[in-house]
Amino acid sequence: ANCSEKMDKFLKRCFYQSGQYNSEEGFHELDRKLTEKEAGKLPNRLFYLSIPPNIFVDVVRSASRTASLPSGSGWTRFIVEKPFGRDSESSGELTRSLKMYLEEEQIFRIDHYLGKELVENLSVLRFSNLVFQPLWSRDYIRNVQLIFSEDFGTEGRGGYFDNYGIIRDIMQNHLLQILALFAMETPVSLAAEDIRNEKVKVLRSMRKLKLEDVVVGQYKGHTRGGKSFPAYVDDPTVPNDSVTPTFAAAALFIDNARWDGVPFLMKAGKALHTRRAEIRVQFRRVPGNLYRGNVGTDLDMATNELVLRVQPDEAIYLKINNKVPGLGMRLDSSNLNLFYSERYQREIPDAYERLLLDAMEGERRLFIRSDELDAAWAIFTPVLRELEEKRVAPELYPYGSRGPVGAHYLAANYNVRWGDISSDGSF
Ligand code: BG6
Repeated sequence: ANCSEKMDKFLKRCFYQSGQYNSEEGFHELDRKLTEKEAGKLPNRLFYLSIPPNIFVDVVRSASRTASLPSGSGWTRFIVEKPFGRDSESSGELTRSLKMYLEEEQIFRIDHYLGKELVENLSVLRFSNLVFQPLWSRDYIRNVQLIFSEDFGTEGRGGYFDNYGIIRDIMQNHLLQILALFAMETPVSLAAEDIRNEKVKVLRSMRKLKLEDVVVGQYKGHTRGGKSFPAYVDDPTVPNDSVTPTFAAAALFIDNARWDGVPFLMKAGKALHTRRAEIRVQFRRVPGNLYRGNVGTDLDMATNELVLRVQPDEAIYLKINNKVPGLGMRLDSSNLNLFYSERYQREIPDAYERLLLDAMEGERRLFIRSDELDAAWAIFTPVLRELEEKRVAPELYPYGSRGPVGAHYLAANYNVRWGDISSDGSF
């Protein structure tokens, strides 16, 4: 309520201090101004570094040396935004540099997907509902799908993106973090270190991703309804012969007792037909199904599926088989739905809202610890290197399409069908 009023009040308290990233003088000046404002109050300082990676360390050095609060007088924390390096090596290097100036407790590595309502709810769903607990393993789950799509390209961000690609931009962090929360064992408590301990175990149990388990794509120009959509390489900041993937699909595995053999399929892409992020859990077939003859020929269509739609229109739904009312015995697949907009008449906070508040309160649960980061890079670094060394050509897909067909072959290798393109129209 009264958002603009609050915004004005907030903006009145803001000031802008210009300066060079690597100049301690600029930070001295900032420190001076802050000290002035802090007079008579209990100060704390939170630096939010949403800056290009090549100036990261310079800023941390200057800010920590010249604009941090002296110890004993309040905290100084740093929120850092990805990219946290490009691979294991550069990420390790970055961590080492940061730790020359900061303690791990001061570093808040943000992954804004962890602040999304449905991702927060994943643990509640798992650990406070008995119905799901016994099902959450290889015994009942056939595969898990983590799907991210955007209906716009890299417009305006090509310069950054071309150096990273979709695997680093979305998979190695956002989707992998969701996977870790999805698959972790029950933590000892809800305390940050207990949760992060369990997540890191999952990540460390994962197989390194292999080239044959990855499909890469890049969008090409397309004209629809008289409107033209550009190709990725049409971006002036992207080289014409770029092989940077704007789409990728991958099959990942967790080699532990709970998840042995269960494919975790990821799919992420830009310039696709829809904007959506969801988690799909496909269960096994019912053994000796009495109603085999009533569900049609496609038994896969009759398996249960639990869907957590992270965005847009947050929802949780479970596909069950149900008798179509009437004298006959025909079954169909219907949904048990929890649509947030119907159930909760309130605004869902933005992910960053939650995370900024957590950082101010010193709550680290939703931030990435350095060992998690190392484990995440270890899974993706070999394949990223191979893709780049071999300059693997991405499969081209039209802007606004459903992405490259290779993603279907990849899933088929593991006897899986992508749930977002099933014939029930629940796209
Ligand atoms: C960012 C990526 O981390 O997440 C972007 O760098 C992407 O490429 C964005 O567009 C998506 O976030 P959201 O919250 O809009 O789904």
